Amino acid sequence: MKPLIAPSILAADFANLQSEVEMLNRSEADWLHVDVMDGRFVPNISFGFPVMEAIQRFAKKPMDVHLMIVEPEQYITRFREAGADVITVHLEACRHLHRTIQQIKACGAKAGVALNPHSPVSGLEDIIADLDLVLVMSVNPGFGGQKFIPNTYRKLETLKELVLARNSSALIEVDGGVNEENAPLLLQKGADVLVAGSFVFSAADPEQTIADLKSVSLK
Ligand code: DX5
Ligand code: ZN
Repeated sequence: MKPLIAPSILAADFANLQSEVEMLNRSEADWLHVDVMDGRFVPNISFGFPVMEAIQRFAKKPMDVHLMIVEPEQYITRFREAGADVITVHLEACRHLHRTIQQIKACGAKAGVALNPHSPVSGLEDIIADLDLVLVMSVNPGFGGQKFIPNTYRKLETLKELVLARNSSALIEVDGGVNEENAPLLLQKGADVLVAGSFVFSAADPEQTIADLKSVSLK
């Protein structure tokens, strides 16, 4: 099965957001990955509702919103209104994760949970059956363009086992340092969705790079 490709807008040219989104519309990208950072959960600030609403005006593909923020439960409805189709919160940022997941589903979005590189898959055992997506961070969240952490492969294996054991329909998404070299092994280990920021947007031909990622096959 071909992976879903979710280029990360964080690496796009913000001064030309409309043409970047139109490029993604033309491309084989499946989702637009939208990274929201608050300067508290992660040591960086990206963008918020006004920028998301601007993206929404032109985007013809689902918006996959990755919330790297504390207390995400306060803003779920607003992210949905700003165009989020998938809303992913961090395990480490939620005191009442089950409640927050139900909140996301109640507003009509798909619900995801993200794990930082240090967070074990076992933390999802009692929530996996409720999830539409698990995002595995393969770098520490906060910045694009970082180096892929190889322990991710082992983590994907454990996660895939858990998904199968619990009969969960959750998709497995990998985010951070993804490129054409590590993509085949990521797919082999169970990844369904590949996020790619700098690999796509710093390429000479981003549209072709997305097509190349889409056609990567299992190693
Ligand atoms: C990092 C973000 C990622 C990032 C990926 O905190 O969650 O989505 O944009 O960028 P690359 O592909 O450049 O690592
Ligand atoms: Zn992300």
